[in-house]
Amino acid sequence: MTVTEPHADRPLRTKRPPHETRRTFAIISHPDAGKTTLTEKLLASSGAIQQAGMVRGRANTRATRSDWMEIEQQRGISITSSVMTFEHDGLTFNLLDTPGHSDFSEDTYRTLTAVDAAVMVIDVAKGIESQTLKLFEVCRLRDIPIITFANKVDREGKDPLEILDEIADTLALDVTPIVWPLGQGVDFKGTVDLVGGRVLHPDGTEWRRFSDPEELLSDAELNADPVVATSLENLELVRDGLPAFDLETYRAGHLTPVIFGSALKTISVAELLRALGQWAPDPRPQPAEPAPIDPADPKVTGFVFKVQANMDANHRDRIAFVRLASGTFRRGMKLRNVRSGKELAVSNPMFFFGHDRELAEEAVAGDIVGIPNHGTLSVGDTLVEGTQIIKVTGIPNFAPEIIRRVRLTDPIKAKQLGKALSDLAEEGVAQVFRRMIGADWIVGVVGQLQLEVLQARIAKEYNTPISFESINFELARWVACDDKLELKRFVDASKMEMAEDKDGDPVYLAQSSWWLGRAERDWPKIKFLSTKERA
Ligand code: G4P
Repeated sequence: MTVTEPHADRPLRTKRPPHETRRTFAIISHPDAGKTTLTEKLLASSGAIQQAGMVRGRANTRATRSDWMEIEQQRGISITSSVMTFEHDGLTFNLLDTPGHSDFSEDTYRTLTAVDAAVMVIDVAKGIESQTLKLFEVCRLRDIPIITFANKVDREGKDPLEILDEIADTLALDVTPIVWPLGQGVDFKGTVDLVGGRVLHPDGTEWRRFSDPEELLSDAELNADPVVATSLENLELVRDGLPAFDLETYRAGHLTPVIFGSALKTISVAELLRALGQWAPDPRPQPAEPAPIDPADPKVTGFVFKVQANMDANHRDRIAFVRLASGTFRRGMKLRNVRSGKELAVSNPMFFFGHDRELAEEAVAGDIVGIPNHGTLSVGDTLVEGTQIIKVTGIPNFAPEIIRRVRLTDPIKAKQLGKALSDLAEEGVAQVFRRMIGADWIVGVVGQLQLEVLQARIAKEYNTPISFESINFELARWVACDDKLELKRFVDASKMEMAEDKDGDPVYLAQSSWWLGRAERDWPKIKFLSTKERA
């Protein structure tokens, strides 16, 4: 195997359109694999922060650090996704955080609709874990290219050969190591940086330079250490048996370069940043109707992939996170929401620098801008400059996996409950359904934690305590049919099982998969859909 020198074609410092300097990515991992530590180290390596959570020199002049929702603090987990922007080597990196908890929500999926690349962090002692696999599947659906960071080489773990096999077998991806560990745990002796042609000591200082890794096998000093000698032999095996890095295959999402390192000990973090800068794609054309949006198009377009309230106790507002798909956005610009036809003057857009937020003056395709609003922007909305009619596609609603009836503790608060549920449904916190018969509010979520968030937020923000009751339904499916009469016949015949979502679209609630199967057999013309594009 030879590792090709990356992008001779793309020197980093030449002048190019600003969007080509953007790298918008997410980190996917299983809880505890080290995502938070790695995020902090990436920010630190870029100079965006000096130490975890501190923005250099600006801590006092900017808004204070985001104050996560109480429930997150209580549990010490991150439920809501956020954005962190940092600059390095002439590039702007936008890191979109995906919640790491196993009960993740639709937010997580939608966040992945707004990135061009992903870093998959795995713990070398554990390999590919369930949550990583789930998130990986979402990346695969969108052919998002993935760089793997095999973390915690400072601890005992699986053999690196085994890790590579596991990634290749479990994910059906080609793998190729970019940074190889020399030993592990107490025997960790350093790394071989195959792209940089360097062998490094654990503290990151240079031990050797090489032009061909073959040279290392005959290096007497290196091989004097049996641990290093064995690791070099294994590297040779890997180089013989695995494909070389190929930019196109990586960008197509078929090959993952693997970097062994340690977030905690800042080993291989710089190499990860280099790989992201050199290999991760700049903004790609955004799927949309009637035609994909070219990031080089001078007119501004963007889409809302997430709406979040209460990001900061000092800023009790709602923020729509907009991923720009084209053009150069400037503060004060007027953008039109294609869904409502309404224009909005974006006078106080925000950037998310490090952990903090600041006013955005200018942003280009690939950037994420936060737009404070009072409910005018919903997930899936397309924003445009001028009068273009264009709609970004591929931002789904997912059929909920848990369905509950909402019980109001204080019946006087029925009106507040209606408002709370419709607000939070717009935000995408949960899906809300209204039964066609009876006045029950039904909520559907993808994970149990979403129910707890919903309950906590409705109690706190709307002063309306609620509880949830089990209901005799396990599944929800949007129903559609080209033949409108047939759809009406189905809805009329199934009134007891029918509900409407927040947009008034019909939803069939099934007691079990058996009942769903039966409805599908009985009504062959009706489509039972487990996802719905945002209206
Ligand atoms: P997460 O966001 O993916 O859930 O993981 P996080 O970074 O919080 O890391 C989970 C635990 O793994 C933390 O330990 C963290 O210090 C540790 N960790 C992360 N990277 C490395 C690494 O490269 N080597 C080693 N040895 N450990 C690593 P903890 O004990 O749960 O928390 P803490 O008390 O250290 O903060």
